Amino acid sequence: MDIKTVQDMDKKYYFNTFGQRLPVAFERGQGIRLYDGEGNEYLDFVAGIAVNCLGYNHPVLTAALKEQVERVVHTSSLYYTKQQALAAKLIAQNSCGDRVFFCNSGAEANEGAIKLARKYFKEKGVDKYEIITLQNSFHGRTMATLAATGQEKYQLPYTPLPPGFKHVEFNNLAALEKAVSKHTCAIMLEVIQGEGGIFVLDTEYLRGVRKLCDSLDILLILDEVQTGIGRTGKLFGYQHFDIEPDIFTLGKGLGGGVPIGALVAKEKVASAFKPGDHGSTFGGNPLACTAACAVLETLLKPGFLENVQSTGKYFKERLQNLKDQFDFILDIRGLGLMLGLQLKDTIDGKKIVHKCLEQGLLINCAGNNTLRFVPPLIVTKSDVDVLIEKLKNIFMDLKDK
Ligand SMILES: Cc1ncc(COP(=O)(O)O)c(C=O)c1O
Repeated sequence: MDIKTVQDMDKKYYFNTFGQRLPVAFERGQGIRLYDGEGNEYLDFVAGIAVNCLGYNHPVLTAALKEQVERVVHTSSLYYTKQQALAAKLIAQNSCGDRVFFCNSGAEANEGAIKLARKYFKEKGVDKYEIITLQNSFHGRTMATLAATGQEKYQLPYTPLPPGFKHVEFNNLAALEKAVSKHTCAIMLEVIQGEGGIFVLDTEYLRGVRKLCDSLDILLILDEVQTGIGRTGKLFGYQHFDIEPDIFTLGKGLGGGVPIGALVAKEKVASAFKPGDHGSTFGGNPLACTAACAVLETLLKPGFLENVQSTGKYFKERLQNLKDQFDFILDIRGLGLMLGLQLKDTIDGKKIVHKCLEQGLLINCAGNNTLRFVPPLIVTKSDVDVLIEKLKNIFMDLKDK
């Protein structure tokens, strides 16, 4: 089916929530490359927005999924599921969390975290329910996670939103301390704001938040939906900062493309959920958890995460080098393979995304006119070289105009 036929059908039958999408439909992928219906090749630095951490048709993930599809796809939470227990064990044994609950998306994981924080204090008989998050954050598109998201553009169409959320300035500990009240139950943060434009929290700030939480009996929730699963060069983003959250959430990369999210918590918090308090029909089904096991086992192989770190470091250096050559590049930010290149407002980042597509390169533009690079974690330094060369040529054209 040609792209025009797909576009016409989409225009007629699909909700218009995405407006004009990039004019391509992919048929298959291999490694970090995607191919459209005409066989054109695209080098992918988007990875389904930080999802396809093992790229496409990865031998371990593909073989595990094929085998599982032939056995059983879904059973329900009425019964035990071996793959669910195994995936939970892998996460718990490799993180600061003790217990895991699987759901289907990042927003659903964050909903679970919000519910768990409130339930924890209800169990203790303490009147704490308020959650403080940061301005410019992104936590999802369900009603509670929209209320948590610190961006009015996502919130305004849906007011009134669930009450009990406050937003404070990024990296400003004094502002956070001021916002805390006797009703504050949790502080919820992304260690790197992804959708907001790749803004990394300071180590000192994060340690300060941890101390504040400890001293006032407040829970620290880290939204690791984008930063988790090796994206930053460590299995979880918080591991860079020498702090531990009480609750953290996962999504995106966890299933390598198969939808799955997770809520992870320390025992003392997790135990606030009693039988019947939370659930999900699809959450943690055999197929999704098979994917999570294959992803986690691959990432935990010796050398995998070290490779993400060294490719990420090389990538960042090459982006810095571009910044030295073009004065419309304002900043290079990020960790591991979660990198951003912020452009001056006079340059339209979305147009650059289109130009890249024409040249067989997939990139994305996040908040603050920031080009976002979140490739599959198997990307190589020579793939990075190809991206840099293509970007450089596009930037040269802009400079000449
Ligand atoms: C940090 C963060 N939290 C939550 C979400 C929502 O995840 P989902 O789209 O899977 O609901 C996203 C999605 O971009 C995200 O980046």
